[in-house]
Amino acid sequence: MPSVYFQTFGCQMNTADSDAIYQLLAQRGFVLNDSCVGSDLIIVNTCSVREAAEKRALARIAEFANGKKNHPGQKLWVIGCMAERLGDALKKDIPGIDNIIGAKQMERIDDVIESQFPKCQGDDKTSSSIFQKTAVTDFVPVMRGCDNYCAYCVVPYVRGREMSVPYDVIESAVKQKVGAGIREITFLGQNVNSYNHGGIDFPELLSRMAGVDGLERIRFTTSHPKDCTGRLIDVMASSPKIAAHLHLPFQAGSDRILALMNRRYTASQYRGFIDTVKKRVPGVDLTSDIMVGFPSETDAEFRETLALVRDIRFTAAFMFAYSPREGTAAALMREGISKAEKLARLSELIALQTEITREIYEKSVGEELEVLVTGRQQKRDRAWMGQDRGCKRVLISCEEGVAGMIFKVRAVKSSGMTLIAERVGQ
Ligand code: 5AD
Ligand code: SF4
Repeated sequence: MPSVYFQTFGCQMNTADSDAIYQLLAQRGFVLNDSCVGSDLIIVNTCSVREAAEKRALARIAEFANGKKNHPGQKLWVIGCMAERLGDALKKDIPGIDNIIGAKQMERIDDVIESQFPKCQGDDKTSSSIFQKTAVTDFVPVMRGCDNYCAYCVVPYVRGREMSVPYDVIESAVKQKVGAGIREITFLGQNVNSYNHGGIDFPELLSRMAGVDGLERIRFTTSHPKDCTGRLIDVMASSPKIAAHLHLPFQAGSDRILALMNRRYTASQYRGFIDTVKKRVPGVDLTSDIMVGFPSETDAEFRETLALVRDIRFTAAFMFAYSPREGTAAALMREGISKAEKLARLSELIALQTEITREIYEKSVGEELEVLVTGRQQKRDRAWMGQDRGCKRVLISCEEGVAGMIFKVRAVKSSGMTLIAERVGQ
């Protein structure tokens, strides 16, 4: 049987895309390999969001291309955002690449795979997902692409226009996964909360999915502040199945920078929305994406970002130094900040956020939590990993066979970014 090896860079959407391709290949008799050595097909799924991500992928692709010398007949595919951005130019730079499948082709990936590996009669093996986060949690993409054109971002160019998945397709994917034992689903989209198909918007989608029997938890990412409505908060507040977690990138704390970024909200609008969420969804975990060193950002403007981080108290955040991307509006702006200054701002921000994360975990000690057990902790006997209704990682000590169950636990200790907990009321 032919074998395939995946290397997936970037966001959760790429993980979901790699999985979708694996499903199609598995139907055609492919088995998954956990090493590139001896694989008939190597697929590298790439990210273009920052230059560093592209450099890392390019280095890996060059290694795989070189390794083909020892594997006659081995094929190398490059897919995803960088494949879309650079296209056939990649093949010229790295001659070992056999096929390029850009991110926009994910819409018609069934046809793309069929053209490469036509299905034979009798081929239709079903296979369990290999990229699902655990045996009890999985992803469902509900919309693709982005129409927002934030000035720094390459995503609208490589992923294309926004497209929502029809409601019935989502519903059957969810029910099929729940039937196969999945307990928690994360809805994915570049702007998941701008979902709209046939009059069903994102709050409506969430509230309908909260009615699916056997589905215990619903998560979603990534939301854009401009599409956050009161109804979204209403649904989060009213359904215990919807995680008490909102990932809401704010990027920068200065209104001048937010306007240059084309984000379409002000810092005070963002703060106002977050205040309402905190009031309506008690104990909510908030997380964010934050960028430093956008062109012309002054030190005082960077301090506004720090002030917002200090006031809101995110449970965690992804933090980045601005990296110019060719073709975007910001790439034409004069940066006016040295690399060293950008990195100094990034370290100051990371230090502040790390301290807040530590304090928030510390404050949870003594609290009673509902934890969905996701799997065993490899290194310790009797230890199981899980996640609370927010986004905190929890380690529980208990007996065998509990993955997929929801336990009431009490946090007894915090170790940085994990809570250690004991079961209560067994
Ligand atoms: N430079 C640095 N960070 C970026 N992001 C997007 N584009 C860039 C860029 N050019 C960050 C944003 C976004 C996250 C996915 O990546 O914070 O929310
Ligand atoms: Fe990029 Fe902005 Fe779209 Fe997010 S909303 S994918 S940051 S353009």
